[in-house]
Amino acid sequence: MNIMLKTNDIANLVEADRAHVWHHLSQHKSYETVDPQLMVEGRGMRVWDATGKEYLDATSGGVWTVNVGYGRETIADAVRDQLVKLNYFAGAKGSIPGARFAQKLIEKMPGLTRVYYSNSGSEANEKVFKMVRQIAARHHGGRKWKILYRERDYHGTTFGALAACGQPQRNTDYGPYPPGFVEVPHCLEYRNQYPDLADYGIAAADAIEAVILREGPDTVGAICLEPITAGGGVITPPVGYWERVQEICTKYQVLIHIDEVVCGLGRTGKWFGYQQYGVQPDFVTVAKGLASGYAAISCTITTEAIFDLFKTDASDPMNHFRDISTFGGCLAGPAAALENMRIIEDEELLGNTVAMGERLRNNLLGLMEKHPVIGDVRGCGLFQGAELVADRVTKEPLAEAKVQAVVAKCMSMGVIIGATNRSLPGLNNTLTLSPALIATTADIDTITATIGEALTAVA
Ligand SMILES: Cc1ncc(COP(=O)(O)O)c(C=O)c1O
Repeated sequence: MNIMLKTNDIANLVEADRAHVWHHLSQHKSYETVDPQLMVEGRGMRVWDATGKEYLDATSGGVWTVNVGYGRETIADAVRDQLVKLNYFAGAKGSIPGARFAQKLIEKMPGLTRVYYSNSGSEANEKVFKMVRQIAARHHGGRKWKILYRERDYHGTTFGALAACGQPQRNTDYGPYPPGFVEVPHCLEYRNQYPDLADYGIAAADAIEAVILREGPDTVGAICLEPITAGGGVITPPVGYWERVQEICTKYQVLIHIDEVVCGLGRTGKWFGYQQYGVQPDFVTVAKGLASGYAAISCTITTEAIFDLFKTDASDPMNHFRDISTFGGCLAGPAAALENMRIIEDEELLGNTVAMGERLRNNLLGLMEKHPVIGDVRGCGLFQGAELVADRVTKEPLAEAKVQAVVAKCMSMGVIIGATNRSLPGLNNTLTLSPALIATTADIDTITATIGEALTAVA
């Protein structure tokens, strides 16, 4: 660590933060009595706060973002070189890093061909919603305008994304929302809504068909799904689910939009989460790990068939996609993303993610044998969750305050883990783990040993 802050500097900065910064997702009343924490430096898997305390970060920056770890000088160099060459030009023109990165990304996404740049996950998703609406207006006579989303999924903080939000604690109070967003049931087998049906994966997917039939297939244009639900509880889809979803969407001509904002760029051990399930999307959105937080960049990626729908009549000024993202033209984004991808390839981080993900999962299953408070362990690669329950038989969720106490205990012991929060009333009870893809066996074992101690102390 290289922190050179003196006690007085720290006190002044904490006061400046307390006085002027509005933290994300935070109830500020507590900062009247407790100091806000300032994060100052990071190296590999570790971060240091302003007091000099060291943490092993099992969250990749709090929200599954820093996939290649902290302190990557080659990414900083690539960004610097690009900024002094050309920092910005609006995305109506092309750029060298933009062209290079699009080509590299598309190599990993068979069947997809076009990359649209913007700067956040929410914005990438909004682009799809607008494309679906424009396709409905221009090619379906105004029909097929509705967009399905799933209970427990999250797609961002803007109004369209909140209209497509399956987490009531995220979107309550901020409405009214734009019409035409329709919810389908979740697919968490641990909380099976169809216990009488033999095959949960098929039943959960058929529930989508029931919604399409109820709404009218000619009104439904697309469905937006996370490949593995993240903040809604690390929900891996049940066996057979995605295959059946694809069949249903083909049958009713519903476009498939996969939100890879969390799973994209290696988190599950493949480049994209959907590639675990063999599904063929029409739209994919990526952000967070795309440049590991070294620059703000997101991408909306589509097929050539979708792209072609926006150039059918060059004489009509309304025929193309009439959208712009100012900061989608920041060239630090694709420059950082290119180097981020090179690191994942050259350091074979997908293979490491599979191996370390397996170890993380096995360690969590080991904890489950010792701690009845763990009701379910689920996830894929370095994206794992442990659902905590007060009673394994009834599956009554552990109280959120206790779940948060486990997180706080780990933090006090120098390990940052996450938990679902402000998502579903009464169901914010899943510990979430998403260490950087560079994690070693020692890191994984420290993370799970610390969770074990915290569970003993708290639960
Ligand atoms: C699955 C998913 N989609 C979209 C978003 C929104 O991304 P952003 O915060 O970059 O707008 C998030 C953020 O957590 C997310 O988890």
